[in-house]
Amino acid sequence: MELLGIVASPRKMGNCELIVKAIAEKLPPPVRLRIVRLAGKEIRPCKACYRCLSGDCPLQDDFGTVLEAIVSADALIVAAPTYLRGPNSSLQRFLDRGLQFWKHVDALDGKPALAVAVAGVRDGEGHALLGVENFLHGMGMNVKGRAVIRAALPGEALLLEEAISSGAALAEALVDPVPRPAASPSCTECGGTYFEFRGGDRVYCLLCGAGGSVRLEDGRVLLRTVPPAHSWRGDASMHGHGEWLREMRERYLRERTRLREAALRYAGGEFI
Ligand SMILES: Cc1cc2nc3c(=O)[nH]c(=O)nc-3n(C[C@H](O)[C@H](O)[C@H](O)COP(=O)(O)O)c2cc1C
Repeated sequence: MELLGIVASPRKMGNCELIVKAIAEKLPPPVRLRIVRLAGKEIRPCKACYRCLSGDCPLQDDFGTVLEAIVSADALIVAAPTYLRGPNSSLQRFLDRGLQFWKHVDALDGKPALAVAVAGVRDGEGHALLGVENFLHGMGMNVKGRAVIRAALPGEALLLEEAISSGAALAEALVDPVPRPAASPSCTECGGTYFEFRGGDRVYCLLCGAGGSVRLEDGRVLLRTVPPAHSWRGDASMHGHGEWLREMRERYLRERTRLREAALRYAGGEFI
C-alpha cells in the first residue's frame, strides 16, 4: 500500500507525525509511508480567479506537488493538531484551492482515509475533527475511521493508553472491507456526526449539507436525512459540480456589467 500521511502540524516529531507513523506500523505489510508536512509547505491563498476551471492555477507554490502525492496514494491518514478549538489552518489553506480537485475526481473519489485530530485538553477539540473530515470529504474520499486523540506534550501520543488503542482501532478500520457503523448517530448521506439543530426536529449535517429530522425511540436517537439540494460527493455529483462551476463562470461573464454597476455605490472605503 502506498500510504500518504498528511501532518498538519508545524512541530517536527510532534504528536500528529508520531500518530501517523504508529498507525502505519500497525497496517498489514507491505506499506510504504510517505509524509507531507503540510504546515511547512508554501500554499498561497486562493485568489478566486476561477482560472483553474479552464486552465492552470496562476499561483506558483507547493500546492501541485502535494495534490500529486494525494492523487497517487492508495490511502491517506490526515492528522491535525487542535488550535483554538479548530484544526491547524494549513488544512483550510490547502482546501481553499480545491476547485482544482475536479480535474482529479476519478483518482480521489472513494479513496480510503483516516481522520485524526489531536487535542491537548480533554474536551478541547472543538471542531478540529470536523475540519479534518471536511478536508477529506472535500476531495470525495471515504473516511473509514476518525478519532480525537488526547495528547499535549510532543511524544505523549505514544505513551497514553487511550491514544495507543485509538491508533490500533484506526489501523484496523482503514483496511476493514466492511464499513463500520458510526459510534454515534450519523448522517445517512455521508456518515458525518456533526449537526446543527434548526428548530423542532429539524437537523442539518455540517459535513454534506443534508437536511433531516431527529427523534427519540426507546431511548435511541433516530436520524433521517435527505440528500442536500446541491452535492459534490460521489463521482457523478463531483463531475456535476464541476460543470455547475463552469456555468457560473459563464453567467458571471454575461452579467458582470450589471453586477459592477450595483457594487459601484460601495466602491472605496477606509482600509487598514
Ligand atoms: C496555538 C495553540 C493552540 C492550541 N489550542 C488548543 C485547543 O484549543 N484545544 C486543545 O485541546 N489543545 C490545544 N492545543 C494543544 C495541541 O493541540 C496539542 O499540544 C497537540 O498535541 C499538538 O500536536 P502536535 O504535537 O502534532 O503539534 C494548542 C496548541 C497550540 C500551539
